[in-house]
Formats: sequence, C-alpha cells, structure tokens
Amino acid sequence: MTSQQIRQQFLDFFKSRQHLIVPSAPIVLKDDPTLMFSNSGMTQFKDYFLGYKKPKAPRIADTQKCLRVSGKHNDLDDVGRDTYHHTMFEMLGNWSFGDYFKKEAIGWAWELLTEVYGIPKENLYVTIFEGDEKEKLERDTEAYNHWKEHIAEDRIINGNKKDNFWEMGASGPCGPCSEIHVDLRSDDEKKRTPGVGLINQDHPQVVEIWNLVFMQYNRKADGTLENLPSRHIDTGMGFERLCMALQGKESNYDTDVFTPLIKKVESLSGKQYTGKLEDEKDIAIRVVVDHIRAVSFAIADGQLPSNNGAGYVIRRILRRAISYAYRFLAMKEAFLFELVAVLKEQMGSFFPELVKQQRLITEVIREEENSFLKTIETGLIRVEKLIQQTISENRKILPSEEVFELYDTYGFPDDLTRIIAEEKGLTIDEAGFEAEMQKQKQRSKKDSAAKVYDWTLLRETPETFVGYDKTENQVHITRYRKVENKDGEFYQIVLDATPFYPEGGGQVGDRGFLRPDNDENAPAIEILDTKKENNLIISLVKELPADPNAMLYAQVDVVTRRNTQANHSVTHLLHEALREVLGKHVEQKGSYVGPDYMRFDFSHFSKMTEEELKLVEEKVNEKIRESLPLQEFRSIPVQEALDKGAMALFGEKYGDQVRMIQFGSSRELCGGTHVKNTSEIGHFKILSENSAAAGIRRIEAVSADKANEYFQNLEQQLHEISQLLKSKDVLKSVQKLLDENITLKAEMDTLKKEKAKEEIQHWKNGYQEKDGKKLLVKKTSLDAGSVKDIVFQLKKEVPSSITVILSDAGDKPMITVGVSADLEKDYQAGAVVKELAREIQGGGGGNPGFATAGGKNLAGLENAFQKALQLLNTKN
Ligand code: ALA
Repeated sequence: MTSQQIRQQFLDFFKSRQHLIVPSAPIVLKDDPTLMFSNSGMTQFKDYFLGYKKPKAPRIADTQKCLRVSGKHNDLDDVGRDTYHHTMFEMLGNWSFGDYFKKEAIGWAWELLTEVYGIPKENLYVTIFEGDEKEKLERDTEAYNHWKEHIAEDRIINGNKKDNFWEMGASGPCGPCSEIHVDLRSDDEKKRTPGVGLINQDHPQVVEIWNLVFMQYNRKADGTLENLPSRHIDTGMGFERLCMALQGKESNYDTDVFTPLIKKVESLSGKQYTGKLEDEKDIAIRVVVDHIRAVSFAIADGQLPSNNGAGYVIRRILRRAISYAYRFLAMKEAFLFELVAVLKEQMGSFFPELVKQQRLITEVIREEENSFLKTIETGLIRVEKLIQQTISENRKILPSEEVFELYDTYGFPDDLTRIIAEEKGLTIDEAGFEAEMQKQKQRSKKDSAAKVYDWTLLRETPETFVGYDKTENQVHITRYRKVENKDGEFYQIVLDATPFYPEGGGQVGDRGFLRPDNDENAPAIEILDTKKENNLIISLVKELPADPNAMLYAQVDVVTRRNTQANHSVTHLLHEALREVLGKHVEQKGSYVGPDYMRFDFSHFSKMTEEELKLVEEKVNEKIRESLPLQEFRSIPVQEALDKGAMALFGEKYGDQVRMIQFGSSRELCGGTHVKNTSEIGHFKILSENSAAAGIRRIEAVSADKANEYFQNLEQQLHEISQLLKSKDVLKSVQKLLDENITLKAEMDTLKKEKAKEEIQHWKNGYQEKDGKKLLVKKTSLDAGSVKDIVFQLKKEVPSSITVILSDAGDKPMITVGVSADLEKDYQAGAVVKELAREIQGGGGGNPGFATAGGKNLAGLENAFQKALQLLNTKN
C-alpha cells in the first residue's frame, strides 16, 4: 500500500462513519501567543474544547501537518539521529465533540488497524491510564472494559500519568488516554524478548502509533480538575510510523514517504544511503529529507525564514540541513532547493499548496542556502584565523567569547568550529561557551520577559467586536489581568462590546481611550494597543478605571483609524493592480498597515520597472477616483466567497463563514477595517519597491493624510528652491546654473594652469646646488593634481635635479618627489618618498622618476622638510 492510499483509507473509514473530512489547518499559527506551530491534530480545534467556538460538525477527521520544533514539544535535536522522530509529520485524527466516546473510539481504532489495514492482532498492545492518587483519579476501567472486547487482557498495559493522561497545556481540557503500540520485530526477536516489556521504552521497532484521548476534565488555573460539561474524543496517529508498520519497514525513512527524496539526495551528492543509525552520512541524509519537508510546508503556508519568531525557527531548521549536508555529504553548493520538485510530485496531489507555491518555495530555499553557504565560507576564514592565533599564543583551547561571537553574530554553526578545532588538535572552552549561551538567553529573556497574572472575571457577558460599525461605544470590562514587562506594569482588559480593532491581518491594533460613561470630565484612560489572543480581544492600559465594574465610554482614536483603514483598503487595490500588471503569480505574502504608511510584500521574481510601478500606481488611483463603495459581506460561506473570485491567502485559516471585502472587482477575504468608499483614500503614492527576500518584492507606500503630507512637503521644497533661485521656472534656472557651472569650471582650469606656470618660473629659481646636483624642497597648499603637473614639468626642464614638494591641501599631508632622468640611478624617487613619508606616518610609492606618498600626521611635514634638505648630503 502506498502512503497516499494509507492516508486515503483513514479518511474514507471515518467518512463512512459520519465524520466530516476537513483539510489540514496551516502549519503556522496566528493569534496564539502560547504556540507558534500546529503541534498536534487538535491544535485547530482547541477553541471547541475550550468552549470558545461551536464545531461545524460533531464528528470530524483529517490529517494535520504538525511541527514539533519549539516549546513544550521539541524533537529537533533527535531528528536524523533516530529513525522515527521528525520535525514535520502528519497526524491522522478523528474527533467527537460531545458525541461518541470511549466505546466507539476504541472499537473503530481496532477495526481500522486490524481489519482495514490488516495489522496482525498479535503485534498490537494497548495501554490504559492506571489512575493517580495525588490527582484523586481512578484507573480507567471503562477503557479497559472496552478494550477487553477486542484484545487479550495480558496485552492491556497500565500506564502512569506521564504516559496516559494527556493535557493540552498547563491548563485547559485534558483526560486519560489509551495508546496503541505496534511490535514490528522479527518472530525470532519476539520469542527472545516479549514485546510487552518494551512498551514505552524507546525501542525503534516497538512504537506507539495511535493515541486516543478521552477529554473529560478541565484543568483550572489553580491546578484542580473539574468535569467538562460534555466529553470529547481527540485522537492522533503518526502517519509516517503507520506507513512504516504497514509497509513492513524498520524505519520511517524506508517508507515511500521518504524514499523518493533520499534517492534524489543520493543522485545529487553521489553518496549512498545505507540506513545505519550511527553513520554520519546517513544521519545527514535523514536530516536533509526530513527538514526539507518542514521548511517547504512552512513556506507554502506563508512563513518565510527570517530573524525572529516562527521565521527564525524555520531558518534554523533549514540551516541545520545545510550544515549537515556541508559537513557530511560535502555539499558545498546549494542543492536542497532541487528537492522541492520531488516533494511536490509526492505530496502535491493531497497538499495543493505545494504545487501552487513550488516556484516561491524553491527560490526562497535556494537564496537561503546561498547566503548561509557564504556565511559558512567567511566563518571558516575567521575560524582559521582564530586557530592560528591560539596556536601562536601556545594555547590549546579556543577562547569561548570568540567562538560564541562566531556563532551568535556571524551565524557560524558552533559544531563546525568544534570539528575544525579538533582537526587541528585544539578544543573549545565548552564551559565558557555554555556560559555565554546562558548569558545570551538571560538577555533575551529580560527583553521579552512578561509576567502574566490570572484573569479577574467581572461578568459573564459575551465578548464581541463592534468596531466594523462603531468607533465609540458604551462598554463594560468583562475581565482584566495584570502584566509586567520591561516597560513596567500594565493591565490587559477585555470589553463586552469593544470598538477597538485588535492587531491582525497586517493592520495595527486600535488606540483610543476609556472613561466613566456618566462623567465626561473624568480623566481618560488611554488605550495603548489592542491585540487578539485566541478569540479574546485584549486592550492594553496603564491603569484600571476607579470602578472597573462601571459602565464606560470607549472611543477609538478616529484619525489614526481613518488613515489606517485607508491604507488597508489600498492594499486590496494594490494587490489587484499588481496581479493585472505583473501577472497572476503575484500573491500577498505579508503586509503592514498602519496610520503612517503601508508595506506590501508579494511574490514576484524580478525588480519592477519604472513603467510597471507607474502603471500600478495609476491603476490604484483610478479606483480611488472611481469612488467605489465598500461592499462588505460580513458572513458568507467560504465556498461562495471563493466562487465569487475572492482572494484567499495561503497559510490563513478561514472558518466556514468568512468576511469578504469588495471594492469594484477587488474581492478579498479579510477581517480588517476599511473605508466606506475608495474616494476616502484620497491619493496613493508608492515610495519604494525593493526585494524583501528571495522571490518576494516589497512596496512601501502612503495614502490619505500621509499622501497629502508627502505632496505638501514636495511643494514646500519646490517653493524653497524657487525662492533660493529667485525664479518661478525652477527647471530652467537649474539648467542655467549647470551651464554656468561648466563655464566656470573651464575658466578655473585655465586659471589654475596659468598659476602653475607662474609657480614653475618662481620655483625654478629656488633650487640649491651642490656638486652639480640641484635640490628644491618646497611647501605648498596647491592640490595634488597641480603639484603633479609642476613636478613633471620641473624634472624635465631642470636637469640633474631632485624636487620635493610637501603639500597640506585638504588637511592630509602629502609628499611628491620628482627626479630628473639623469639622476634616477642615484636617487630613486620611490625610495626617497618612502623615507620621507615615515615622518608623516604614511606610505606610498611610484617609479624612479616620480613618486608620491600620503600620510596621517600633518605636523610631521616639518621634519620631512628638514630631512629632505639633507638629500644632497647623502647618497641614496
Ligand atoms: N492530542 C493527542 C496527541 O497529540 C491525540 O497525542
């Protein structure tokens, strides 16, 4: 069975049991400060368990792209070193939201594994929760009794809280779980060591494949458990492991999920994969084929590698792959990008984002590879220097600060430094390096440290957003909590019907103020920012109202909001115009929409020309002048919106009902605030177009008040220029100035030459003579060009002469030496100038007849002067 068939059978099985099949949610999460990536199938359903949202069906099944590379679940360091951990993996899951419970979940899991997939029953073991005294939780006999119907009792194993009680996080829904393990060893081995003793012992061939979680409790913030109002099922089956079991392989990497990628790496690197656990080359190949999946899917979902947050995690994964390939596969040039096509072939039919985004993914990876390989190359030179220095100082240990600097500032992998040092018989100061690492962690912790206190709940009223329709409202605070960070102490408040837009979709969060509703003169409390956390809209204030329970009057800062929403509406018009002018490959890849300006990142593979920019700008301005009214479809079925041609962004998670914003022919799924009519935007002006990353261009632009300001500034500048020029026709006046300048310059050159001629005459008389040789030593403030001309003239016209000119033009000392042809064998100009230049801390050179030297020490010219006067007394 191919992996594709295995995935399809899972979905078909649950579909035939009335489950709604949904697509995988994006791998990168938004609006969740506690989690960067989907790390299990239930991540996208968190809100259903927490009661924030109603599920669209009581039974759901899917395969979810997961990434376990940060936070509580982080497998990154294990990947490649074993055969069953991955950064990105698929989790097959089925859910019941208050519908079926243990009996069905257990029965169907058994039926699917043994009857549909045909796994021999004697290869399976299951675990159940043994209970926990401290938590006052009983053994899960309910699950035990259901399992008993299917499997021999000696194959049902008790598990402790660590293995068999699943919790989403420190608080929230949780419950006992039952895991299904499969023993894939040979019959001989099974006879020698019974599988029952190997459960949960990290044996590569006795592995957990499916976890059935019975959600029945809620862990409260104070640590106690309470029963959930209804009970749910949450299951997760590791797809790659399942494929290993069903394809009779010993390693996930031997399944067809990975073999096409491994073949490609083999052909690109000329190295054979032998599947060994300890072999560095095999580890590197596993790292490469694993990581390329994580990075490709993240980019497809809109997360580009970058220097912070989720983007940084992706960059680190990619760099880990590059570094392993560089060290153990001798891949010194970009090659990972070539794997994207293979991945697309393999998975594109189920995950169409890989097909649609193939070019972007490829370009981004190629560019990242090239730049990191450059980092490695320059890092190698630095490491070499550091090693030489250490050896020359007779030391054997590389100093930790420098090694850390290489790692931290130059992005050079520390393990590479270690290996190179070892090759030269050196080590690195490991303890010192670790200490630097800790210091760095402390520093960044300090920067971001926020202490968040528990919510104080004031009322149970639902919390809604009214900011699409209102910029002021009467509100109540429903909950608040204190937070502390490096800027001080603040409060986060949630309002029952807030007009404040929470930062999202690129648009900044609203500011504004609050005051008691019944007292216009009471001091206002400033709303500093508004953000979204899961489904809560949280505004930040420095202090709470005197009476937090009172009815309050909330007012959005309308000028800021007006300019912000003009910029937001403009991004839609710009998006459409770019697609018209550049082509349909253009897709939004990120944006910043603030009151001051807007930034729009989009996929496109070359710099835009002046004409393209003009055309795009004009198209947007045309739409503004057309005064297109906003058509807001606040809640329409997602399919209807897509059928109407609405632009949806990759990596955004859309619900069943979506909001669609339309201006004329521009239609986008969007949660932001917008102008009521495009005419409110006034004008749109592009300020710059640059590269934001490989395959991504960035436009920065202004509209509304800021566009107005921009043109006012221009006008003011023009006005000032015209006043300076005392002319209304600025162009003509500037042209005239330029012409005059040319004439003046020519006149000046002539004058300079004439002056030089006079000087030459004058200087000719200044030579002193000794033994038939003539010497002139002279100080001047003439510029270098003039001095050069004069010296050439003099050495030609005055036979048997040495000419030394010391000049101080432009604050820098300079010495020029000319020697007439007949003296060149006795006095080499280059040698003379070198000697004299010592006095001015300088250096230079030339040929035997002419040489110059610049220096740093102006005061040294006097010494040079005195030294030069002695030239005829010495022989060179
Ligand atoms: N949520 C459960 C897990 O991730 C199924 O293991």
